[in-house]
Amino acid sequence: MISPTDKLKPAWAGNDLLSRFVNLLIKTKPIYGIMKSQARQVLIKTAEKNDIPWRNNYQELEQSVPKELLNSLANVDVIYPDYYQLPFHAYDQGNLCWSAAFEAASATYSMGLRVWKDEDLTWQDAQQRLRHSFFHVVEQYTPAIITDILDLGCSVGISTQTLHQYFSQKQNAPINTIGLDLSPYMLTVAQTTDTDHQISQWIHGLGESTGLADNSLDLVTLQFVIHELPRQATRAIFCEALRTLKPGGILAIVDNNPASPVIQNLPPVLFTLMKSTEPWSDDYYTFDVEAAMQEVGFDYQTTVPSDPRHRTIIGIKPD
Ligand SMILES: C[S@@+](CC[C@H](N)C(=O)[O-])C[C@H]1O[C@@H](n2cnc3c(N)ncnc32)[C@H](O)[C@@H]1O
Repeated sequence: MISPTDKLKPAWAGNDLLSRFVNLLIKTKPIYGIMKSQARQVLIKTAEKNDIPWRNNYQELEQSVPKELLNSLANVDVIYPDYYQLPFHAYDQGNLCWSAAFEAASATYSMGLRVWKDEDLTWQDAQQRLRHSFFHVVEQYTPAIITDILDLGCSVGISTQTLHQYFSQKQNAPINTIGLDLSPYMLTVAQTTDTDHQISQWIHGLGESTGLADNSLDLVTLQFVIHELPRQATRAIFCEALRTLKPGGILAIVDNNPASPVIQNLPPVLFTLMKSTEPWSDDYYTFDVEAAMQEVGFDYQTTVPSDPRHRTIIGIKPD
């Protein structure tokens, strides 16, 4: 039987012939090596053509980030799950290395540009549009005043800072915003670039067990996180969000939209590169996120195609 999720997924994901062929290519080590290095070169070249100074950004961070901060940020009790220790985004150590952390901001700005690639936007405008299209959906479900936000999977803090600034300006009242990530390298960059200390805490931890108090948060966001996770991790993170949110609190997700024409019609080179650098793609594109949200106990509210490539999904913790 074809499930609703199978109907929505692109042909290059899941168990279709095309998908299996691409997976075979990826599993063939020499081919995978070439694809990885090609993906990287394409990314950097495209970014620099669009005024994102990829290599300069890298050098600046490499020189300015105090590496010893990692030791004070890192929680020695964290045990990295197996799914997190695979090669990822062309880095052999996945998110657990300085290269990933020094390139994350440039990669994030490039991602924003790809959403509106036929429009002549600057990367700054594209990034703002990307974030605001998500926040505009989220604010329809949040109360007038919120005090506690968790940005889970915050990476180098771009999502955390824009979220914090948006809601702080909107309600003109202080907000405690926490950024949590499993990579201490990403968090070191996040903390270093949060020069005016807008964010209350940068926490090194597992989204599945944050250590935050029960019923303590008004809003938990997962911005571009769950397409990088196996479904059992996403489900466990939903359970943790349910535990830590106050009754009436919001879980808000923005991520790739399997039903969008852009994703459905990705050119073969792009989807092959994507699958070769993001090992959980197939699992994400065949996962019924809304059903999982409801199964763990959220009141599912809506799924909105918040931009041409992404969807925003909202759930509320019942009273
Ligand atoms: C694509 S990045 C997110 C980007 C960021 N939220 C933004 O919108 O710019 C995904 C992040 O999720 C983090 N992550 C993956 N699995 C995690 C987990 N189980 N718990 C916490 N963070 C996790 C990764 O370390 C990575 O920094």
